[in-house]
Amino acid sequence: MMRIYACLLALATTLATSLSAQNYSIVPEPVSFTLSKTAGSFTVNSSTKINNMGSGLEPSANFLASYVQKLYGTKLDTIRGGNIADITLYNLFNKEPRAGAYELQVNSKGIFIGGDDAEGVFHGVQTLLQLLAQNKKDAGFTLPFMTIRDYPRFAYRSMHLDEGRHFFGMDFVKKYIDYLAMHKMNYFHWHLTEDQGWRIEIKKYPRLTEVGGFRNGTIIGRYPGTGNDNLRYGGFYTQDQIREIVKYAESRHITIIPEIELPGHASAAIAAYPELSCFPEEATYKYFPKESVWAGDTTGKQVIQGWGVYDDVFVPSENTFKFLEDVFDEVLALFSSKYIHIGGDESPKTNWKRSAFCQQLIKEKGLKDEHELQSYFIQRVEKFLNAKGRTIIGWDEILEGGLAPNAVVMSWRGEEGGIAAAKENHKVIMTPGNYVYLDHSQTRNEDSVTFSAYTPIEETYSYDPLPAELPADKHSYIWGAQGNVWTEYMKNPSKVEYMIFPRLSALSEVLWSPKEKRSWDAFDKKIPFLIDLYKLIGTNYSKAYFETVATVEPSANHEGLLVKLESPLAEAKSIYTHEIPGATTADRNNYKQAVKINGSSKFTYWTELDGNPMSSKVTLDFSINKASGKMITLADTPSKSYPGQGGAFGLVNGLRSAKGMNSVEWLGFNGDDLDATIDLGRSTTISSVELHILESPGSWIYAPRILEVQVSNDGKNFKTAGTTQTFDKKELMMGSMTINTGKQQARYIRLKARNQGVIADGKAGAGHKAWLFADEIIVR
Ligand code: ACM
Repeated sequence: MMRIYACLLALATTLATSLSAQNYSIVPEPVSFTLSKTAGSFTVNSSTKINNMGSGLEPSANFLASYVQKLYGTKLDTIRGGNIADITLYNLFNKEPRAGAYELQVNSKGIFIGGDDAEGVFHGVQTLLQLLAQNKKDAGFTLPFMTIRDYPRFAYRSMHLDEGRHFFGMDFVKKYIDYLAMHKMNYFHWHLTEDQGWRIEIKKYPRLTEVGGFRNGTIIGRYPGTGNDNLRYGGFYTQDQIREIVKYAESRHITIIPEIELPGHASAAIAAYPELSCFPEEATYKYFPKESVWAGDTTGKQVIQGWGVYDDVFVPSENTFKFLEDVFDEVLALFSSKYIHIGGDESPKTNWKRSAFCQQLIKEKGLKDEHELQSYFIQRVEKFLNAKGRTIIGWDEILEGGLAPNAVVMSWRGEEGGIAAAKENHKVIMTPGNYVYLDHSQTRNEDSVTFSAYTPIEETYSYDPLPAELPADKHSYIWGAQGNVWTEYMKNPSKVEYMIFPRLSALSEVLWSPKEKRSWDAFDKKIPFLIDLYKLIGTNYSKAYFETVATVEPSANHEGLLVKLESPLAEAKSIYTHEIPGATTADRNNYKQAVKINGSSKFTYWTELDGNPMSSKVTLDFSINKASGKMITLADTPSKSYPGQGGAFGLVNGLRSAKGMNSVEWLGFNGDDLDATIDLGRSTTISSVELHILESPGSWIYAPRILEVQVSNDGKNFKTAGTTQTFDKKELMMGSMTINTGKQQARYIRLKARNQGVIADGKAGAGHKAWLFADEIIVR
């Protein structure tokens, strides 16, 4: 897609001449924005005062003053009441449909921000700050006369942050809250407990942070990892720090919803207090995947050092409930939020199944199975929290075995859970992975380790939290949506920022802007402004937006490959080099037309704007063989999550993953076989056929049981040319299954790779369908 970078350059020149609201970028897009018919402008400079004429507006006045001072060095005095002057904040008491509505006017008398409530004034201040950023002129900011009226589409607008996997500390959490505030979000879901770390001080149970707050090492690279860093890692928030952060958020009209995970993801708590486990004597190491490397002591209960889901969950004993009630008593004293998140996701039933205590409890309570035991667990905790005036939020697994009476459901495994809960008149927060899991890569050329899924900004932007199939009378149960930031692969604040921006900005429009005011094209034009804003506030962000998009195609006669490049911006250039062995290579070529690839070679491309590189360099390492670029068909299509590059063609595009699993080349088949037929175009002498695959048991990816190769000269009558069960595994869990066919003539080659099917007991993912991953077929 072609993006337009022109609007920023245009801004400076249009100010003096004709103006329209389209010349301004406000994110999220407001409900209405009009420039006055009477042309004119008002200038904010160091003599401007902020006049707080309302009640409850001090935080907004102070925020505005400190922001302008910090980012521009301009000191604006705040005054209280008196004459209307300069920037006036006031209570409007209109009744827009939702909390947080405001009106912003610029006229000859000054700037006026009126809110239906104090939250509305704060959002108006955020809009003003974006206008200032676009109107900086020498010693001041000159704003044209205008009127903005604005209110949110959804009442729940939120981001989540997982501090269990990695811990970022108070300074960053405050920054994160500011990022939410800048985007008019009003909730922050703070994930504070995990298998890998307990991050909140609980005075009655000091070992939770002393022991549960630290682990002896962390696996290296993508799960199951290539080793262990052997570094002790951890940290936690003291109760004083939590109070300070809650207050900080409140002054920005953001409510913090703490999450205390139960009954699963509880290994850190169990490491501190082993009696919380069904099997206090069992070492944590026993639960750790064999493919991952452990650091230090393997005995007793330990804080987990790798990622994934673990069987050692809370035992539903009276001792555990007493522990949880004590913990919640301290949590409730720290957080004013009416809503408390209790987790509920990914809690394996394995230990409850083999525990005599749990089986007895199931009988005693007349429960059907372990799923009903989970419901019993959640409802016990819910009753306790309800009695304290709080409402629980849980991940959509809390639907299984019966939903707790007034629970709010957070739908993460797609939208189904949310739809089911809304139909039962439960409040729902939508967080479907495909759209709003911001731990997914945002580029197909991701060069850092991320969770292996791909969610580009367009996908996030396209999300509508109101599912089409939900009946209209249930729409009001969709409270809103949230972006989730799981931090297995985010070790530091900079990586968190890289992963959330600019998708967080896209999400803010999903949550705030009227549906009819939203369009990708309009948002796309605002991204350059956003990038300037990110630079102004000093945050990292992904440069994926500037990436040239490369497509590899077969040539018209299937005698080779073509690379096509598309620049992301009208003004930017796509540059490439093409290194052919034995040939001299230009340092750079301006891309003009498709480049032919006739032999093994390295093709490198990037984006430049005004001679400056705007993206990292991406290299396509072509390895050409008799199958490259040929016609290929697949009996079954790969999974939608792992479609490879260009479907079946991806198996003969000359490209293999160089990065293990972290590659877009993989075609993934979930429980299904790979059955591919290649037409070489004419009868050809062949001697071997090779299938390049990945085997990563920790991710439930297994080599095929058997590979069979058949050949044919008419495309109808095939004869077997060989079979193999041997997988020659090399580095990064990749390798080949190869069949030496002996010299023979064939035009058609068929590969049948049999999936492992249901994973056998004792192996990672036992009982689930195995994945089969392949990225290339090589014919010699
Ligand atoms: C989740 O992503 N496990 C809620």
